[in-house]
Amino acid sequence: MKHFLNTQDWSAEALSGLLDLATELKANPINDRLAGKSVALLFLNPSMRTRTSFQLGMQQMGGIAIVLEPGKDAWGVEFQPEVVMDGDAEEHIAEVAGVLSRYVDLIGIRAFPKFKDWSVDRTDHVIKALAKHSSVPVINMETIVHPCQELALMQTLRERFGSVKNRKMVLTWTWHPRPLNTAVANSALLIGTKFGLDVTLLCPEEAYLLDEQYMEAAEANVAASGGSLTVSHDIEEAYAGAEVVYAKSWGALPFYGRPEEEWELRKNYRHFMVDEAKMAMTDNAVFSHCLPLRRNIKATDGVMDADYCVAIDEAENRLHVQKAVMLTLLGKESS
Ligand code: CP
Repeated sequence: MKHFLNTQDWSAEALSGLLDLATELKANPINDRLAGKSVALLFLNPSMRTRTSFQLGMQQMGGIAIVLEPGKDAWGVEFQPEVVMDGDAEEHIAEVAGVLSRYVDLIGIRAFPKFKDWSVDRTDHVIKALAKHSSVPVINMETIVHPCQELALMQTLRERFGSVKNRKMVLTWTWHPRPLNTAVANSALLIGTKFGLDVTLLCPEEAYLLDEQYMEAAEANVAASGGSLTVSHDIEEAYAGAEVVYAKSWGALPFYGRPEEEWELRKNYRHFMVDEAKMAMTDNAVFSHCLPLRRNIKATDGVMDADYCVAIDEAENRLHVQKAVMLTLLGKESS
């Protein structure tokens, strides 16, 4: 049984097939290919785009989506194995996954890391526990990676450029007042290198490098795809000649769980915000971000309102790529 936990588990050819299917679905969005099918969507964290696009996507193909918010409108869930459950959680993922697998055909989960101990969170243990106990395919709706966002970004770039190979993409850290999840940055790094782009990871200093498991995976992707990976701490050098600027803010992993200490670094880097002057250094680059985005913190109004901003296109493409993922996991990719 195939899950959609991480794009590294999928070949470039298989991911490309998902994008081709997403393009077909974008042209012809309404069908009954998932009539009688269902997905349970477990949200342990807030969402606007993911929740709306999955629910709507299932409905557009004749199926139904059931949204559950464990700890709010559903029982809180324990994900650790062999634990004495004397905390807040009323039931274990073994039973949650077992029961939902009897009801529905797919299970999606959003479970952000806890921001306490990166050595624990970096294992992505929550979604792995769900996949272990589920007898239906599981979809990652964002944990420490965000593979659905990856596909939407790549569909958007393919629409804009046709061939993306060896296009220069700057994945830039940008300002935010507090340390955020590295998931989207990890994912942009993975999908950019998987599809052969020349990726420059721009971050303020070494402390903001992404986890070595993703840096190493990106190097392996580059070796297979013919792209490249460069790390830079120099804004002018990184933006020069860029054709894609992809922005995200994230926390410095050496200070994970210690936001007050991390602030002593972070406070120095407000100038990483994406603005019109930086975009003018590029080769007429497109700009994007996964959203939500704080205007004039992460990127200026001028950047967000420019013709080169494709963030809304990327958000729309979440709908189409997720429909392709659901069809493919259920073996319904051929119409
Ligand atoms: N980009 C994204 O996943 O948006 P939401 O957090 O609103 O779902």
